[in-house]
Amino acid sequence: METTQAFVGLECVDCGATFDAADATHRCPDCDGILDPQYEYDAIDLDRETLASRPFDSMWRYEELLPFAREAAVTMDEGATPLVECPSLADEFGVGRVLIKDEGRNPTGTFKDRGQTVAVTAATQHGASEVALASAGNAGQAAAAYAGRAGLESHVYLPSRSGFTNKAMVNVHGGDMTVVGGRIGDAGAAFEEGLAEHDDWYPLQTFVTPYRHEGKKTMLYEIVEQLDWETPDVITYPTGGGVGLIGMYKAAREFRDLGLIDELPALYAAQASGCAPIVEAFEEGRAEHEPVEHPDTICGGLEIPDPGASPWILEALRETDGGAVATDDPDILEAGVQVAKREGLEMVPSSAAAASGAWELAERGEFDGDETVVILNTGAGNKEADVLRSHLMSQGV
Ligand SMILES: Cc1ncc(COP(=O)(O)O)c(C=O)c1O
Ligand SMILES: [Zn+2]
Repeated sequence: METTQAFVGLECVDCGATFDAADATHRCPDCDGILDPQYEYDAIDLDRETLASRPFDSMWRYEELLPFAREAAVTMDEGATPLVECPSLADEFGVGRVLIKDEGRNPTGTFKDRGQTVAVTAATQHGASEVALASAGNAGQAAAAYAGRAGLESHVYLPSRSGFTNKAMVNVHGGDMTVVGGRIGDAGAAFEEGLAEHDDWYPLQTFVTPYRHEGKKTMLYEIVEQLDWETPDVITYPTGGGVGLIGMYKAAREFRDLGLIDELPALYAAQASGCAPIVEAFEEGRAEHEPVEHPDTICGGLEIPDPGASPWILEALRETDGGAVATDDPDILEAGVQVAKREGLEMVPSSAAAASGAWELAERGEFDGDETVVILNTGAGNKEADVLRSHLMSQGV
């Protein structure tokens, strides 16, 4: 296996056992816990000047903090997305600055590319020839794209409610697609059946592969560097499984431990009221979520009723002095429309929850007035333009 110098292997977040990344490929062989890539941070020699001297051209410019070298990566120069100033929102929220990290500019239009570039690279390193996953849509599209690029076959299970663009593009990338009637849980069950019948499928499922949250770390590295090493006060993140939130939490601690920043940004999980297990657990002071029995939100990426990594997500919110906020679907769609109208930026509905959540925090008076607030736009609005447009129709427009 070709790994970076400081990458030492995988540690189980549940039992603490450590494994060589060549042997352990997915969940913990001892307890089935989540495996997390580990580094010898003393061996990493990264300072602000070194990073500034590199072109801002890909998330792989942080390769010392990733398991694989850029040279070995299955990459389309994903990441390096703009952090766009939003003065009208800053005015509206009554804060110093609002910036949107626009992940819609990624190769397949979402931040899922950051996870799949690392996970598919791991698959090639492990000698896989077929990869598989269940997805609400965007991760499946990204997986099909990266698998195609690597010459791997992909098997993608999507729920019938996932968007047309996702389904069309899985096919266009040459993926083998199974559309399952129902919701993400139904697609997940069909995927498990498929996996049980095919020993050689390499799962790309979040927190089954240790590498998707690892790729998402780079969002935080970029945000901090784009702010000239100022740590934002607040980051709102549209939270389903919490993969990106955990990635950013890990990244912030790494940058702090490397002496590149002093403080952690307050991380806020934004969810849709129709499926808000993290918000409920946070508000009730619990260390773990309780599964949502009847999840129902138009935000497909957020309709995750049973997020297995909830203890880690809740730790991130509490350790960073952040929080959790849920808003209703109509407010989320309205936030997406308002951002498009006022700032020009196009947010996919799932991601508009992060804007809606920030709006709600402002309305609750949670901001002092001088904060720098970063909102994650995890996906391009045109992925679900029909959903945004139909919100206007509900208003008679
Ligand atoms: C556009 C979009 N935003 C947010 C999410 C949720 O991401 P996470 O699993 O990191 O919480 C998804 C997941 O499907 C998504 O597609
Ligand atoms: Zn374990």
